Amino acid sequence: MINDLQLLREHCLQCKQCGLSETRTHVVFGVGVPNAEVMLIGEGPGEQEDLSGEPFVGRGGQLLDKMLFAVDLSRKQNIYIANIVKCRPPQNRDPLPEEQEACIGYLRNQVQLLRPKIIVCLGRIAAQKLIKPDFKVTKEHGVWFEKSGVQMMGTYHPAALLRSPSSKPAAMEDFFGLREKVREICEHTYGDETGK
Ligand code: URA
Repeated sequence: MINDLQLLREHCLQCKQCGLSETRTHVVFGVGVPNAEVMLIGEGPGEQEDLSGEPFVGRGGQLLDKMLFAVDLSRKQNIYIANIVKCRPPQNRDPLPEEQEACIGYLRNQVQLLRPKIIVCLGRIAAQKLIKPDFKVTKEHGVWFEKSGVQMMGTYHPAALLRSPSSKPAAMEDFFGLREKVREICEHTYGDETGK
C-alpha cells in the first residue's frame, strides 16, 4: 500500500508487472478529483487512451461524459475514473485474468486512498472482477450491491452502447439510479445543498 495518490501514480507509470507493459504507449492510471465519493471503473485503455494517457477519451468516453453530464457528474468536478488494467491490451482484446491479477493491486490501492462511497463498474469485465464473477450486465445492470461498506453497481460499457444504441435508455436509467444513490449517501458530490 502506497499512501499518496501521486506517489502511487509515479510507481504505476514505471510498472513492468505484465506483458502489456511491452506494447503500451502510456500507462493510463486514472483521472478525476482526489476527494471523489464516486468512482467509475472500466476494463482497460483503448487506442486513444493509450496515446493520451487518460481513461475514456475516445468515442465511448465522449458518450460517457455526456451521460455523466446529464446527472451532474464530471471527471473535472466530482468523480474519479480508472480501469481494471492500466495498459492497453493489443487490438483491444479483453485483458487476460493474469493481466488483471498483475494490475488489480493498483486499483485496490486507489480505492483505499480515495475511499469512495459508490463504485460504478462499466461493463462485464469490471463488474465480474469487482462485484461477482458471474455478473451478467443484461440481467443485473443498475442493481446495487454492498461490498465492504461501498455501494456498487454495474452498467453497460460505453463501447457496447455505441455498438447497440438500443440499450442507451436502459443505461441512462442506471445513471438516474446513480444520481439517486449519490443524493442518498454522498456528502459533497453535489455540493452542500445545490443539486440535492
Ligand atoms: N474502455 C475502457 O474500459 N476504459 C477506457 O479507459 C477506455 C475504453
